[in-house]
Amino acid sequence: MSIPHDRVVIFDTTLRDGEQCPGASMTLEEKLQVADLLDTMGVDVIEAGFPIASNGDFESVAEIARRTKRAVIAGLARAIPADIARAGEAVKFAQRPRIHTFVSTSPIHLEHQMRKTQDQVIDIIAGTVAQARNLVADVEWSAMDATRTPIDYLQRCVETAVKAGATTINLPDTVGYATPSEYEAMFRQVRAYILDRVPNGEQIIFSAHCHDDLGLAVANSLAALAGGARQIECTINGLGERAGNAALEEVVMAIRTRGDVLPYATGIEATMLTRASKLVSAVTSFPVQYNKAIVGRNAFAHESGIHQDGMLKNNTTYEIMTPDSVGVSKTSLVMGKHSGRAAFRDKLKALGYELGENALNDAFSRFKELADRKKVVYDEDIEALVDHEIAAAHDRMKLVSLSVIAGSHGPQRATMKMKVDGVVITEECEGNGPVDAVFNCIQAIVPHAAKLALYQVHAVTEGTDAQAEVSVRLEDGDKAVNGRGSDPDTLVASAQAYIIALNKLATKRGSLNAQAQPAAE
Ligand code: KIV
Ligand code: ZN
Repeated sequence: MSIPHDRVVIFDTTLRDGEQCPGASMTLEEKLQVADLLDTMGVDVIEAGFPIASNGDFESVAEIARRTKRAVIAGLARAIPADIARAGEAVKFAQRPRIHTFVSTSPIHLEHQMRKTQDQVIDIIAGTVAQARNLVADVEWSAMDATRTPIDYLQRCVETAVKAGATTINLPDTVGYATPSEYEAMFRQVRAYILDRVPNGEQIIFSAHCHDDLGLAVANSLAALAGGARQIECTINGLGERAGNAALEEVVMAIRTRGDVLPYATGIEATMLTRASKLVSAVTSFPVQYNKAIVGRNAFAHESGIHQDGMLKNNTTYEIMTPDSVGVSKTSLVMGKHSGRAAFRDKLKALGYELGENALNDAFSRFKELADRKKVVYDEDIEALVDHEIAAAHDRMKLVSLSVIAGSHGPQRATMKMKVDGVVITEECEGNGPVDAVFNCIQAIVPHAAKLALYQVHAVTEGTDAQAEVSVRLEDGDKAVNGRGSDPDTLVASAQAYIIALNKLATKRGSLNAQAQPAAE
């Protein structure tokens, strides 16, 4: 007889802790896309944002709450009445709302950041958790910096939160300091304390939330399960503050692959992991490291002769999970310039995209242009093209055409046409290299103060005719945005990436006026 494995709640915080990571901010449209995918792939709880942080954050949590069909929608709140009220307002539209409130408990935070005594913090926990519980039935309370908190005080805090109405208790390793055995022991001790003192204490769900400063976030999260935790907080691609959070795809596949020693189950449809990774990477412009576990492009690549020999004989020789189990389709020659619209639509569906009629038409004509210019069109080329199309769909600034004179005898010179709010503008600029000339044209067409903080070029597929994928990060005061462009021509991809980032900046600022004074052609 097989024993049913314990269910682990997967709490995704890509849209909150992930988005907190410098340069990873997303637009409302992008957040809605990510939330929709997370819901479809079976994430149990989506932490949609921090509603008090800004009106934009509030709106995106509220909109995700309205649209999400299945998952619990959590809004984060500090232990401050105004925060909790705002989070309650934002999540109230959800079918299953949750308020997630937190306060620091470690002596370091109490002394240097909060300037409060332990007893004062206990009072704050009692008051704020009770306030949240009056607004929603599902309240999560987090002890920030739990792993550097003396266990007896942590136990008191947790008892207070549970008695005030918290239904989930999260014990974060906020600074990524714990080791697996310590983290497991902390859960065991706190949970035993609660089971002893609180009637129905076994109904409280304990949750792990780990940061990766020492590279231990996933190991610690799995160790917490052995200590009695049944929720893991994680992010797609491990995005998050500093070194990031535990990577959702790694947690899920470790549990799936090692059921013999990790007797748990999640509700995640693992074949969607690759798609989720690509989407989050596309909307944040954070490239996924090539050797990243589960979703890196080399995660299933076998290079050495011995490995290839083994794989040809039997794939279990060097593969502990199959590429299709995480949604990797073998790179294949998929489409060519003779492929029609119906085949293109089918292909997009197989890659996990559902585009509306207009977006499909735009993507199809870009695909045709690409097929004309490129000998072979791979799945990855199509994904890059569609991701670009999605990112550009709501743009007010678009690249119309670009030509560049480059070479060893400078100065390099670019001529660019852009459409800004429907008006076509042409500029010709020189630069210190062709990329500089291109960016100078954009600056001349759309004057702006943002600084270029990152410029990266990668190849989407192999060969000299591969599409170039360019990531650009722009920083303007406290705002940072990313743009990603792809095209067989690196300079066109660079212009697209820059313009996408500029569009995001304009959206964040609510207006283009401060930046662009277009003069009609
Ligand atoms: O790392 C942390 O402690 C957090 C809390 C807000 C849960 O992100
Ligand atoms: Zn965190």
